[in-house]
Amino acid sequence: MSKLAILEFPDPRLRTRAAPVEHFDAELKQLVADMFETMYGADGVGLAATQVNVHRQVLVADMSEGRNEPLALINPEILEKDGSQVYQEGCLSFPGIYADVTRALKVKVKARDVEGREIVVEVEGPLAVCIQHEMDHLAGKVFVDYLSPLKRSMLLKRLEKQRKQAVGG
Ligand code: NI
Repeated sequence: MSKLAILEFPDPRLRTRAAPVEHFDAELKQLVADMFETMYGADGVGLAATQVNVHRQVLVADMSEGRNEPLALINPEILEKDGSQVYQEGCLSFPGIYADVTRALKVKVKARDVEGREIVVEVEGPLAVCIQHEMDHLAGKVFVDYLSPLKRSMLLKRLEKQRKQAVGG
């Protein structure tokens, strides 16, 4: 396994729409394993293939406290949504930036597992937030797209400032 480089906003490649996975092969298993290693290594709760510059519909997530409930969804599709919730989200492509986003409380998702078997998962609460956030990445969307222009520009200025400090400027 190996850690992959994570694209950071405003990298235009984060706006790419991912294509469906067609081959459930060893390469896909390697990608999923590397994505888990990258996500856990960065202390993240979710990661979309888009963020590691692979434009295929693959996401990984683990919202468990013990970091021992890995979930990989390939070609995910939302079948049903219900309710709403506001949750403070972060993103590995926006280090240090957090913002409240409103999303569905519950989602029912159809996907494939790494073996290509069809699975249907019904989730709610934080895991439902995570899956919706990662599915957005696969469609070229990021969480700050939901914010007001004012709030968004404030956060992006903060991101820019942090980045300058990080390089010692
Ligand atoms: Ni994200």
